[in-house]
Amino acid sequence: MLKIGLIGYGTVGRGVYERLEVSKASISAVLGEECHVEAILIKNEQKHRLLEKECLVTVDWAEFQQAGPFDLIFEAIGGLEPALTYTLAYLEKGIPVITANKKLVAEHGAKLEEVAESNQTYYGYEAAVAGGIPIINVLKGLLPTTGISRVSGILNGTTNYMLTEMIENHRSFAEVLIEAQELGYAEADPTDDVGGFDAWYKIRILSRLCFGQWPNTELFHCQGLTALEDWHAEVGERIGLKLKLIGEAHSINGHVHGSVAPAFLTKTEALASVSGVTNGVSLEGKDIKQLLFIGPGAGKEATANSMVEDFLFHRRYQGNRLSANVESIEEIPFRYSLVFIKQAERDTALQWVKEQFIQVNETYSHPEGEAWLVPSVYEVNAQFPSYHVYGEITSSYAEESSSAQLGTF
Ligand code: HSE
Repeated sequence: MLKIGLIGYGTVGRGVYERLEVSKASISAVLGEECHVEAILIKNEQKHRLLEKECLVTVDWAEFQQAGPFDLIFEAIGGLEPALTYTLAYLEKGIPVITANKKLVAEHGAKLEEVAESNQTYYGYEAAVAGGIPIINVLKGLLPTTGISRVSGILNGTTNYMLTEMIENHRSFAEVLIEAQELGYAEADPTDDVGGFDAWYKIRILSRLCFGQWPNTELFHCQGLTALEDWHAEVGERIGLKLKLIGEAHSINGHVHGSVAPAFLTKTEALASVSGVTNGVSLEGKDIKQLLFIGPGAGKEATANSMVEDFLFHRRYQGNRLSANVESIEEIPFRYSLVFIKQAERDTALQWVKEQFIQVNETYSHPEGEAWLVPSVYEVNAQFPSYHVYGEITSSYAEESSSAQLGTF
């Protein structure tokens, strides 16, 4: 009998408990032995009274530990502390820990993986990236020697859900954020979602797997949706571009760079059609061309499914990617940016492009202001919100732009 300790009983913790219960028979068929949750460590006394489980349910860390020894820990509390202390305590004893905690993995993954390895155990973090999409174990288990030059994705379900509802159903930012929280998509502190940090942790984890080492955080820029105004997305829609929060990392000339930022995607980009809470991950390399993974990015069942499968995967297989299979992209994946100029700022913006010799390729008008299409090589001006455009801008965009200027929004 495998004895399991569950740390946390919020949305994800509850999902793991329920998934282990309903899949008891199939899990034991796969493992050849049964598993049982021996103890749950919870935060809230109130909930404690409501739980009637065939196991210890406690708010006391010491009491939880005494319910062991465990064969496996699921950590489902989020944040850095006390998750780091709890995780280290078990990895140091050689007990595997499975987590969905992207912040902890991105910030302390290097150390935690090292501790796991030196204690002949594992630290599984499949559920930390893209919820229900099994991208981590695909990279570790199925593509351990495949050359990869670029990874990109829609990695935050909350903001993708919000953007979809705002753009397609004309709903307000505040309203859809509350709904995303109610649906269990958003973080306890939704600033992590809206500010881009949640996706930033995830692209750093993907970068570690694709390029063999934990990235230099300073080379990974993070920008969320906080500067976004409705009319930016409206202009994009009008000319056939989809606004998405994109996490991206690539290797070029021996260096790995990454970012999270809102960006416009042409219709030909595979991620342009990924809507709602759905996430998408794209891997590019010489042999694979482009591999796409699309699925639920958040939510109780999808995340719990990834955690339980992560445990089963690691029980049967120990895989990893090394750094020897890094390829280099041939050119930067965006050539243009759209810069948004409010009516009142037009003179300042004209002065800026004149002084910097910036070539404005197209101008798209809107009652709120103008969007200028400029080559991405120019330094951004913090005063004007600017978004990279992924995909080929063809003459049809220029034609549409002419009608956009004449048309009404
Ligand atoms: N808040 C996260 C998201 C949860 O919306 O993607 C899954 O990591």
